[in-house]
Amino acid sequence: MTNRLCYVCEGGDCTEKGSGDVFDRLRDLIKEFDPGQEKIKIRRYPCFGACDQGINVTLYPDKIFYSKVTLDDLPAIAAHIKGDGSKVENLCGKVPPDVEQIIWDMLDSPY
Ligand code: FES
Repeated sequence: MTNRLCYVCEGGDCTEKGSGDVFDRLRDLIKEFDPGQEKIKIRRYPCFGACDQGINVTLYPDKIFYSKVTLDDLPAIAAHIKGDGSKVENLCGKVPPDVEQIIWDMLDSPY
């Protein structure tokens, strides 16, 4: 079993921008190479506190924060998750580092 996680924001702003469809499509793309979610689990996340940069998708423990994600970006994100592609650089670095760090600290926390 893996502890690698992909979180898709389901907060109000991201939901309004279509994060429900992003979650469904990304889950389907991941299912193509990892049907049992053994390499990575995909989960919804309440809000990353970076709503203006939504739709936000994060990878943990990779500590990759993808922002302004659209349906068109998902094949590249899925390829990166699978290991067939590199990090999708144009979706990174849109959120202030201190906001990203708050998320990593929370996810690192055992509580
Ligand atoms: S609603 Fe997605 S980061 Fe807040």
